[in-house]
Amino acid sequence: MAEVHILEHPLIQHKLAILRNKDTGVKEFRELIGEIAGLMCYEATRNLPTQEIQVQTPVDTATCRVLAGKKLAIVPVLRAGLGMVDTMIQLIPSAKVGHIGLYRDPETHQPVEYYCKLPEDIESRQVFVVDPMLATGGSAVAAIGFLKAHGCKHIVMMNIIGCPEGVRAVQAAHPDVEIYLAAMDEKLNEHAYIVPGLGDAGDRIFGTK
Ligand code: PRP
Ligand code: URA
Repeated sequence: MAEVHILEHPLIQHKLAILRNKDTGVKEFRELIGEIAGLMCYEATRNLPTQEIQVQTPVDTATCRVLAGKKLAIVPVLRAGLGMVDTMIQLIPSAKVGHIGLYRDPETHQPVEYYCKLPEDIESRQVFVVDPMLATGGSAVAAIGFLKAHGCKHIVMMNIIGCPEGVRAVQAAHPDVEIYLAAMDEKLNEHAYIVPGLGDAGDRIFGTK
């Protein structure tokens, strides 16, 4: 079973505390989602392979390391995953970006797909699926399944807040996928919202409620 990493870095935890606060406004919420995604990206890319190169400095030759191996792709799950993309592509400018549009049916809580556009060579890339919330896990399981159906073999899931139900669902369906979380919350409520969570991530990023 692939690992679940809970990122307890003090900066991530501090920003998460502000993010969760119901009085945090749209502008600050959106900025924090981006900042946390950047910090999580730093941790989630820690084990990417590197190779040695020689670089001529103004003074001498330096032995340096650069990224090697597979190219990367970032795939946000719409809508809320979009909030995590900008800082990640600032850190990994060569990454391509795919989009998977899913929303949860309010009655059944099942994911409904409405859009998908992936880079042509997605199957040869290491893919980071990003979405702030991992609740029932239905959206994550569907998004990962979709990527696998397109030939992807190296997939990492990045969520800001998860819960045991969502982690179990992803592990059951996709035991090969590593999961990075900033927090593992307690449970889901009767509306399949994460408790204590932060509410509806998409609405808070885009100010739709
Ligand atoms: C939220 C969130 C995830 C999903 C998680 O999106 O961004 O995609 O719910 O829930 P799950 O683990 O139970 O599937 P939502 O469906 O509210 O759509 P939105 O981003 O368009 O608001
Ligand atoms: N989607 C959200 O945005 N928040 C939750 O708590 C659960 C699903």
